[in-house]
Amino acid sequence: MDDTPSVFPATVPGLRAAAGRSGFTMSCDARTGGLLAVLAAARPGGRVLELGTGVGEGTAWLLSGMDDAARLISVELDIAVQTVAREQLGSDPRVTFVAGDGGEWLDDYDGEPFDLVFADTWPGKFTHLERALELVAPGGTYLIDDLLPQPDWPESHKASVKRLLGEVEGRGDFRSVRMAWASGLLMAVKTL
Ligand SMILES: C[S@@+](CC[C@H](N)C(=O)[O-])C[C@H]1O[C@@H](n2cnc3c(N)ncnc32)[C@H](O)[C@@H]1O
Repeated sequence: MDDTPSVFPATVPGLRAAAGRSGFTMSCDARTGGLLAVLAAARPGGRVLELGTGVGEGTAWLLSGMDDAARLISVELDIAVQTVAREQLGSDPRVTFVAGDGGEWLDDYDGEPFDLVFADTWPGKFTHLERALELVAPGGTYLIDDLLPQPDWPESHKASVKRLLGEVEGRGDFRSVRMAWASGLLMAVKTL
């Protein structure tokens, strides 16, 4: 079986073209995108958080799975790359783009918890992990990717990923599963 999604959100080709023009290479794997859409679809009226918008490929996949009542906040430090997402996805009333540091945003946020958190940058993953997990609603899902070793990783990053996996898997309030698939994922569901 070929596990590449057979159906892509209509916005993804345009986002990919824009990413190519701007040299942005960090968009999520299409298989991860397919999983994001399924996880979002499992949460009718759900509250979704993406940390690290990039040019918006993950955002497009999340939106494609969300129903009309669901809402997404996507936070990105680099306004230039997020501008692509804003231009191509910003007319969708379900998404709110935030430009700024994800760590500061996590520290300052005082709203409702989230049913799905896709932590796709440093804050919420390698920093501010406790805060990101605190913002997952009971029964909600925390998802991270880019966990399989890459040739260009510095040695220290391997150790950081190992520590991160241990921290999430060691928690009594989350049930976790590793997926050595796509870029390497960990999915954790809040059980308490
Ligand atoms: C892996 S990419 C995101 C890809 C996107 N989520 C997707 O699925 O296509 C990580 C993004 O995090 C952004 N970033 C880096 N440091 C950040 C920070 N401190 N706060 C928010 N975003 C940050 C980078 O500019 C980059 O666009």
